[in-house]
Amino acid sequence: MAEVVLRNVKKIYSTKKKRKRTEVIAVKNLNLTIQDGEFLALLGPSGCGKTTTLRMIVGLETITEGQILIGGKVVNTWTPAQRNVAMAFETYALYSHLSVRDNLGLCLKAKGVAAEEIKGQVEQIAEVLRITDILEARSSGLSGGQQQRVSLGRALIRNPSVSLLDEPLSHLDASLRLETRIEIKRIHQRLKGTFVFVTHDQMEALALSDRVAVMNFAELQQVGTRSDLYDRPANVFVADFVGEPPINLFPDSAIQSHRGELFAVTPRREFKFALPPEIKAKLESKTKDSVTIGMRPQYINVQAAEGREPLAGNVSVFEFLGETGNLTVTNEGLDINVLAPPDFHAPVGEPIELYYHPGKVLLFDAENGKNINCE
Ligand SMILES: Nc1ncnc2c1ncn2[C@@H]1O[C@H](COP(=O)(O)OP(=O)(O)OP(=O)(O)O)[C@@H](O)[C@H]1O
Ligand SMILES: [Mg+2]
Repeated sequence: MAEVVLRNVKKIYSTKKKRKRTEVIAVKNLNLTIQDGEFLALLGPSGCGKTTTLRMIVGLETITEGQILIGGKVVNTWTPAQRNVAMAFETYALYSHLSVRDNLGLCLKAKGVAAEEIKGQVEQIAEVLRITDILEARSSGLSGGQQQRVSLGRALIRNPSVSLLDEPLSHLDASLRLETRIEIKRIHQRLKGTFVFVTHDQMEALALSDRVAVMNFAELQQVGTRSDLYDRPANVFVADFVGEPPINLFPDSAIQSHRGELFAVTPRREFKFALPPEIKAKLESKTKDSVTIGMRPQYINVQAAEGREPLAGNVSVFEFLGETGNLTVTNEGLDINVLAPPDFHAPVGEPIELYYHPGKVLLFDAENGKNINCE
C-alpha cells in the first residue's frame, strides 16, 4: 500500500507540425497528496490533464518538472514495472488475439505465479466483475462494456499498491455502470489500496470517493470532500462544475450596507441576499465593488423556516424530477433555481416567496473568481 505525492509536477508536450514546434501545458504545478488507502476521484472537463496525470504516476509519461513520490520514494526515474502501479485505460488496451482469461492472467504469468494460483485469481476477479461467462472468448469479439470490465479486471488482479482507473465506466450502459461502480468500491474495500479514479461525471466522483480533486485548464482547482466542494468551493469554476442542479451564479453583483447590515445585491436589484455578520471582516479587508453571488438551489426552498430569509419573484417553470422538483423563479427577467417538493403546484406567473439560508450565500471575487468566504 502506498501514499502518492505529486510535488510541483508539470507536463509540457512539445509537438512539431509542418516544422513548427508547439507546446501544450497539459499539467501545471500540480501539488497533490493521495493518502495511503484513499479513494480519490480526479474530476474535470475534457483536456484538463487527468489522463496525463495518471500516465505520469504510472510512469508512461516523463515529467517536465517536479517530483512524484510513491510510498515515500521519488520514482521520477523508475520504470512502470518498478512502481507497482496498475492503470486501467478508457481505451481498453487488451490483447485482441488472446482470450479474456489470458488477458486477465497475463501479468501474473509474467511475474511467475503458478498456473493454479492464476486460475483461482482470474476466476475470482471475473466473478466480481461479472465476466465469468466470457472468460474463454477472444477479447476482440467483445462489446465496449465487456472490454472495459476486462481492462479493469486486468488492472486490479495484480493487487497493486496503487490503482489508477481512467474513466473505467464510460462505455457501460447506465445500469451496468451503477453495478460496476459498486463492485469497484467493494474491490477497494477489499484491497485497501490507493485508488485514483478519473471521471467527467461529478455524481460518480462524489458517490465513490473519499475526496475529489477538481482540475481545469491543467491546474488543480481544489481537492476536498463532498461538503468542501458544495459548501466551500474554492472558486467559481468549482462551484459551477460541482452540484446538481447547478448553482445559481449572479456576476456583477454588489455588496451594500444598510442600517449596519450587509447585503449582496444582483445588478438590477432583482435579488437581495442578507449576509451573515462573519463575512464583514473579510469584505472590509479589501474593497469589493463587484462580486459574483453563488446560491445553491438546495439551500433555497418554497417553505418558510426559522433562520431563512425571503426573496420575492414569480413562478416561471417547474420540472418534476422524481424525488424533488426544479423550480425556476423570475424577478425582472433574472432567474433563480430552487429545489421544490415534487408535488409543488402554482400557476406560471404567480407571485412567490422563496426562503434561503443566509449562511450559505457564497461570494466570489469578480477579478480572480476566488471564494471570498474562504480567503
Ligand atoms: N501525447 C500528446 N501530445 C501532445 N499533446 C497531448 C498529448 N496527450 C495529451 N495532450 C494534450 O494535453 C492536454 C491534456 O490532455 P489529457 O489527455 O491529459 O486530458 P484529459 O483531462 O484526460 O481529457 P479527457 O477528459 O478528454 O480524456 C490536452 O490539451 C491534450 O490535447
Ligand atoms: Mg483522459
